[in-house]
Amino acid sequence: MEITAIILDGKALSQKIKNDLKQQAQSLKEKGVVPRLAVVIVGNDSASRIYVNAKKKACEEIGIISEEYALAENTTEQQLLELVEKLNNNEEVNGILVQLPLPGHINENAVINAISPDKDVDAFHPVNVGKIMIGNYDFLPCTPAAIMELISQSGIDTEGKECVVIGRSNIVGKPVAMLLLHSHGTVTICHSRTKNLAQVIKRADIVVAAVGRAEMITGDMIKDGAVVIDVGINRQEGKKIVGDVHFESCEKKAYAITPVPGGVGPMTIAMLMKNTIKSADISLKKRKKI
Ligand code: GUN
Repeated sequence: MEITAIILDGKALSQKIKNDLKQQAQSLKEKGVVPRLAVVIVGNDSASRIYVNAKKKACEEIGIISEEYALAENTTEQQLLELVEKLNNNEEVNGILVQLPLPGHINENAVINAISPDKDVDAFHPVNVGKIMIGNYDFLPCTPAAIMELISQSGIDTEGKECVVIGRSNIVGKPVAMLLLHSHGTVTICHSRTKNLAQVIKRADIVVAAVGRAEMITGDMIKDGAVVIDVGINRQEGKKIVGDVHFESCEKKAYAITPVPGGVGPMTIAMLMKNTIKSADISLKKRKKI
């Protein structure tokens, strides 16, 4: 008999989280703090524009003020650094998000390093990355947090499980591996140089695919009853958006699987909202102490 997997519905779960955050935003407002997120976008990347619009819409829904800084493609690194500095010094701004990727002439690391760690709602700053490594943090990076939330809210236990992360990016692969480790998983990180990738994936109880290659994980590669988390958003010209996982074949073998769209994506935005509210809450607590 063929089984069909539980669909991990990120859209529904993110709505629940956003409803909760809306109440927290209201309560902060009553205490005199209106949560505010500054969103910086440089150039004309069409995917970045879609993501930024989705983030702004979520802010509106929750009651977070979003202010957008849309800068021209030829903005210099110095100009961008000056804007970041201005936002760092603006007490009304709780979160700063510089949408990546930046144009090639701007050093992304220099910009990430310039964002105040207290306002770094992406958790990309080395100080925040280090805190995550130790397990003592204020902000979690949004996509890894989204993945962990989807897993835990679905009642899936990671303790002692074989977790295989495919992709080693700073934004997803490395931090999600660390979070799975904190939650007592046995973690393997695979990448383009991994030998016997198929064998490694086959032993996984939990697979996280974050490579950016359309439908590369197929049903024959996964173990019966595996949990499959798809981080990919691959826009193919003239075709529908697909993940890194071949949904139809994996759905037949997995215990649970995230769809694309409607899985990790909407949860990532909810986690950004959560970080922004948290930052506003921390600033209120600091203000009270003074
Ligand atoms: N580009 C792709 N994902 C992200 C993200 O989570 N944050 C930012 N700032 N840029 C991105």
